[in-house]
Amino acid sequence: MEFKLYDIRGGNNPLDQLGRPLHDLRISVMDRCNFRCPYCMPKDQFHERYRFLKSHERLSFEEIVRLARLFASLGVNKLRLTGGEPLLRTNLADLVGDLTSIPGIGDIALTTNGVLLAQHAVDLQANGLKRITVSLDTLDKELFARMSGGFAALDQVLSGIDAAIAAGLTPVKINAVIERGVNDHTALDLIDHFRGMPVIVRFIEFMDVGNRNAWRPEMVVPSRELAARIGERWPMRPISENYRGEVAQRWRFDDGAGEIGFISSVSQPFCGTCSRARLSSDGKFYTCLFATHGLDLRAAMRGGANDGELLQMIRSTWRGRTDRYSELRDVLRRERGPAEQKIEMYYIGG
Ligand SMILES: C[S@@+](CC[C@H](N)C(=O)[O-])C[C@H]1O[C@@H](n2cnc3c(N)ncnc32)[C@H](O)[C@@H]1O
Ligand code: SF4
Repeated sequence: MEFKLYDIRGGNNPLDQLGRPLHDLRISVMDRCNFRCPYCMPKDQFHERYRFLKSHERLSFEEIVRLARLFASLGVNKLRLTGGEPLLRTNLADLVGDLTSIPGIGDIALTTNGVLLAQHAVDLQANGLKRITVSLDTLDKELFARMSGGFAALDQVLSGIDAAIAAGLTPVKINAVIERGVNDHTALDLIDHFRGMPVIVRFIEFMDVGNRNAWRPEMVVPSRELAARIGERWPMRPISENYRGEVAQRWRFDDGAGEIGFISSVSQPFCGTCSRARLSSDGKFYTCLFATHGLDLRAAMRGGANDGELLQMIRSTWRGRTDRYSELRDVLRRERGPAEQKIEMYYIGG
């Protein structure tokens, strides 16, 4: 039945082995980051001698735009720029402007840690950015320093959020990764702070992505548990999704003070409707957040592949896609051990 629903999209747009179309592309524009969040880039692994990409190894803006055009012709209508920290990429607003002009792309969003946002929000919005997500795990200054690796101050992120609101990038979404015993006791403070503002706080279950982040199932605070705690203080009810396959479950406060979201990728995986592809900053095309191997589109482009050949590679990779890591987590972790994929492949939220 599901297949028929997707199939009306017709001809050129590929469906994967589970009948899922390709709608979203997450583009990592920068592998480096100015934070060292322990759940993502632990300091002891991403140290001064860690070999990040050299500039010529990253896709150029022209290469990114070329690939985005090709993906758009296969049905992608939403782009999200991410990283690493995307605002470390020089002239990022120019890239946003170029991507906006691609036929079929209706929505461009950005996920950032917010530290450099105050200086870029106006330009990004002026160049066509529609939506922004700022990652902020806690409002406790000392805990914030620990959870970001100690490279920035909470006030900088809060100024970035204010700047995004002032620039009209509303509602601003806040992504908060919640870890049991680390910051779960401060989760309600985030709501208290942002309730009534043009901001949607979304709580993300701590995931075993990207490496070496010492994930253990007992550190995950299931969304149901968190929602119950929040609902006791501020009565709220679930509301319907904005579009099919939205990753966050939405809840609205009964008193009209706005909405919040839960991204329950561990306790309630959403692989069944996943239409997201990922492009790493060195040009690998991944079909899952948890994928360990990607298709090297940079090598193909720099080796002289024409658009038809690139399209064929992308299409057949998507058609062969069977990924549903989150649904099979327990089995796959037993088989392959902790996930070991590229750090910059994360994307959470929509
Ligand atoms: C990898 S970051 C890249 C963009 C930017 N640096 C930022 O932090 O927003 C994208 C999102 O992934 C989330 N993330 C990273 N590691 C995670 C993990 N182990 N579990 C859940 N979410 C994670 C971050 O909190 C952030 O919201
Ligand atoms: S979550 Fe974002 S800010 Fe934190 S280390 Fe990862 S890429 Fe950097």
